[in-house]
Amino acid sequence: MAEFTKRIFSGVQPSGGLTLGNYLGMIRPSVGLQNSGEFETIYCMVDLHAITTWQDPEALRRQTREVAAGFIASGIDPAKSILFNQSQAPEHAQLAWVFNCVARMGWMQRMTQFKDKAGKNAQNASLGLFAYPALMAADILIYHATHVPVGDDQKQHLELTRDIAIKFNHDFGQEFFPVTEPIIGKAEARIMSLRDGSKKMSKSDPSDMSRLNLTDTPDDMAKKFRKAKTDPEPLPESVDGLEDRPEARNLVNIYAALSGQTQEQVIAEFAGKQFGEFKPALADLAVAQMGPIGEEMSRLMDDPAEIDRQLRAGAERAREIAAPILAKTYEIVGMIA
Ligand code: TRP
Repeated sequence: MAEFTKRIFSGVQPSGGLTLGNYLGMIRPSVGLQNSGEFETIYCMVDLHAITTWQDPEALRRQTREVAAGFIASGIDPAKSILFNQSQAPEHAQLAWVFNCVARMGWMQRMTQFKDKAGKNAQNASLGLFAYPALMAADILIYHATHVPVGDDQKQHLELTRDIAIKFNHDFGQEFFPVTEPIIGKAEARIMSLRDGSKKMSKSDPSDMSRLNLTDTPDDMAKKFRKAKTDPEPLPESVDGLEDRPEARNLVNIYAALSGQTQEQVIAEFAGKQFGEFKPALADLAVAQMGPIGEEMSRLMDDPAEIDRQLRAGAERAREIAAPILAKTYEIVGMIA
């Protein structure tokens, strides 16, 4: 097997604002990976993926900047990591075409996310939504990325990426693309809606009370925790007692994640306490942890030209890696340069 530099690629869709779920599930772990010193880290706002369903152009630009600001405010250092928006590195889309010709229809038709997103009206879904996983494979492999952090919903797409790399290498008789490994996130990082403990916290939920946005004011945060759905019981004596109490479990989980404690430690502190006591403690913790990040984000967003400059500089560095890999791919498949 060829030797590849240890390199992480991670993509995030700029199709809405950032929530506490995005922060704990993706952004904070990304900062950890950047600072581990083990990998080169590439973080990409995947604007080309976002348009597989229609986006308001001004909203798309604003959200792309907001996500970039969220990463920077949380500790992604544009000098250490490569941070940019996908469309500024055209090599992604160019490699995606080659991968469209490697991936098989049968593979794509098995993608559960397409089936979920297209729903009953699959005939009216965009061709881009169907082809999306091949573009994701290109995002990763245009950098020869060896590792990708994945949540549950993206595991199948990473499998497809591996299948594409293996088939390409086989079809052209070279070990050119790495077979990328997943970095599986911690289950605790899965943050649920504040209104329904069985649903993931999501920027697309119609109720703003269901989520904490990174841009929420301290008052908003306190109000959202105060009104968060719970049951009438006090907090249990042990973590097992959270079993059938999804809302209670979610709030304990959030407290644990924000304070860097285990659920056991949180329960040890709050066993037998009412939510009337636990919720204000949780709100104070959230304000202390997330408040400074939100403030830094709005400071950054007051100067969009500076964010754009950072993204441009990031894209230049990305292309230094991507362009030679695309050129070599074209050569391997038989294009004249
Ligand atoms: N598909 C991912 C999502 O919807 C975003 C994404 C695009 C991505 N390209 C990627 C994630 C490459 C990891 C690696 O969340």
